[in-house]
Amino acid sequence: MTRTVVLIGAAPIAEGYLKAAGELGLRVGLVETAERVAALRDAYPWVVDAQEVDAALTGRDDAWIRPTETLVARLGPDGVLASSEIHVLAGAMAQERHRLPGPGLDAAAVSRDKAQQRFRFARAGLAQPLHVKAPRLSAASDWALAHLPVVVKPLNRAGSDGVERVATPEQWADAVARRDAEGRLLVEEYVEGQEYSWEGLVSDGRVRFGSLTRKLTTGAPHFVELAHFSAHERTDPLLGKAADALGQAVTDAIGMRTGIMFVEFRTRGDDLVIMEVAVRAPGDHCMDAMSLAYGTDLFAHALALATGTPHEPPSDPAPRYTGSAFVVADREGVLESAHETRWSAWPGVVRHGLDAAPGTPVRPPRSSADRLAWALLDCATPEEREELVTRLGAVRPALAGEAVQRP
Ligand SMILES: Nc1ncnc2c1ncn2[C@@H]1O[C@H](COP(=O)(O)OP(=O)(O)O)[C@@H](O)[C@H]1O
Ligand SMILES: [Mg+2]
Repeated sequence: MTRTVVLIGAAPIAEGYLKAAGELGLRVGLVETAERVAALRDAYPWVVDAQEVDAALTGRDDAWIRPTETLVARLGPDGVLASSEIHVLAGAMAQERHRLPGPGLDAAAVSRDKAQQRFRFARAGLAQPLHVKAPRLSAASDWALAHLPVVVKPLNRAGSDGVERVATPEQWADAVARRDAEGRLLVEEYVEGQEYSWEGLVSDGRVRFGSLTRKLTTGAPHFVELAHFSAHERTDPLLGKAADALGQAVTDAIGMRTGIMFVEFRTRGDDLVIMEVAVRAPGDHCMDAMSLAYGTDLFAHALALATGTPHEPPSDPAPRYTGSAFVVADREGVLESAHETRWSAWPGVVRHGLDAAPGTPVRPPRSSADRLAWALLDCATPEEREELVTRLGAVRPALAGEAVQRP
């Protein structure tokens, strides 16, 4: 009998779910905007039904809840899958109502609120930054000035949007002047240290598969992610083991039931200090990079978990050194070209795409949305991958009105 899954959200980064569904012979019901549904129905004929979301409201959790419920009631699917953070709550509500596998409402609510995460991790005794939740930024002034440098961060945004390091009393005064009207914010002790993420496949509260990713970011003050190095446990097996243990501890702390998830952390001495957790697939093409590294389709594994289909966790094939990297602007201007015709031909770049069209105003990145282009990397050695990331990081885009420069 043909099985059906309802997919909530299908941005380009999540099209891997649609491809994998085709290969698994799954029918798909799609919750998306009218424009996106029209584009995807032609490309993926196994999209058999859809429910539209108001394009003006896609940045709100509640915009996705009713269309998801309507489509799930109509299709009676075998599973519901939330593709990105804004869909997690709609997914968990539908899963709960229709008794389908998923992270659970509790874990979903925690995923959507970084202050709740801090509370859960504290109760579980897990390492995390000292922090306060402030009703408005000025209310945290005494605490912040006693703990500089600190990080200011919104409770429920993503992609480093609104995340800012504040290092001096002057910068704090400036942040308060700019952001006091923003309402509730987290203020955290700044944790120095290399950043990683752990990605896991979890079934009934047990971690079945764990993966370690090393990160490169722009650093202070905005920490925009520039590159991800997949399957880092092959380079650092001890840290891989510690991260697997952390993954299970976080799973327990937030009551995660079933699905794909990730935990971001920084290392400080022997401690793995948690930045955040989310009960959905990572973005930034990490799913594709991990799939190449483990010789399997991680999107298919997440679909199998969501539909309650038995699945074997990925095994370790001949190692490939994979990842993703981003081209960013090093100065302000209007984009003429990200020089993608040149770097996309470099050995090790297996796929690429543009995130900003020529004519777009660009600036050095303050959030992931400011990045210009991406590359999916697949190399035979870690050294090759490292060198490729360095080369991509040195690419300077062409901006309108400037003399031509070679990257
Ligand atoms: N307390 C902290 N100490 C050091 N760096 C931090 C801290 N909090 C956040 N960061 C940096 O900011 C980035 C974004 O913060 P994060 O909590 O992951 O929010 P987002 O949901 O925007 O990804 C992190 O990946 C990390 O580099
Ligand atoms: Mg993050």
